[in-house]
Amino acid sequence: MPDVAFVNGTFMPLAEATVSIEDRGFQFGDGVYEVVRTYQGRPFALDAHLARLERSAAALDLMPSYSRLEWTGHILEGIRRAAYPEAKIYMQLTRGVAPREHTYPADVAPTVVMTVRELHPLDKSVQEAGVEAMTTEDIRWGRCDIKSVNLLANVFARQQAKQARAFEAILVKEGLVTEGAVSNVMVVQGGTVVTAPEGPRILSGVTRAVVLELARSGGLPVQERCISQAELYSADEVFLTGTTVEVLAVVRVDGRVIHDGRPGPITRRLAADFTGLVG
Ligand code: PDD
Repeated sequence: MPDVAFVNGTFMPLAEATVSIEDRGFQFGDGVYEVVRTYQGRPFALDAHLARLERSAAALDLMPSYSRLEWTGHILEGIRRAAYPEAKIYMQLTRGVAPREHTYPADVAPTVVMTVRELHPLDKSVQEAGVEAMTTEDIRWGRCDIKSVNLLANVFARQQAKQARAFEAILVKEGLVTEGAVSNVMVVQGGTVVTAPEGPRILSGVTRAVVLELARSGGLPVQERCISQAELYSADEVFLTGTTVEVLAVVRVDGRVIHDGRPGPITRRLAADFTGLVG
């Protein structure tokens, strides 16, 4: 079954999907996106993702092209057409096609794109062993809360991580951990789960919210505050959260071993709770 694309209301094979070279997403990165995955064929936390898409679009003064109900219908149809055991759904909304001029064009319809591809879950062995991360300077702009398609700084960071044979790049701004290049970062200190607060320096992850709720409802203390790079190195546990990584232990950062180099008990518990929730 080929990957499925959806362009401005029409489904087609991904290989046949095109957008204009004058699309402002291509010219300026003037657009926003979401990534959703399925569990047992059903999109996970879809309403939260669609709510964030609306927030991101509103921040760019983009009119939402579809209501949540309409999006849900298109997404379910895309999943049905692709017929993969598990799917990764990418949605993108840009300001549309117009001659290249920085200011917003008048009366232009947004471009709406969706792709549905096969989701390959992380290897169980990787999940069980945990991963290595590296830190790098967070050089992104001042509105990281918007899930914008401007991802060049994230691309740089991921490429650095790849070259360092690290799984993820952890971004550090003025000595403080913001998030990962494609994930949120949490640490455990003396039994408390700590993660950077919501605000313009991070993307407020859907998985982050789910995991914080699992922690709180499981009786774990949670602090949403800034974590220094020194605290990251000396944490009892470090883990990532995100649609693609789920809850993933980090056992080494910049070559320094976190605690005993194995996924810690709170990470394992939250990962198991998460699996229970989505399973
Ligand atoms: N990224 N922070 C950043 C910078 C991200 O790009 C992502 C997800 C997250 C986690 O958000 P969520 O839990 O809602 O997936 C945090 C997606 C998966 C991507 O760009 O591919």
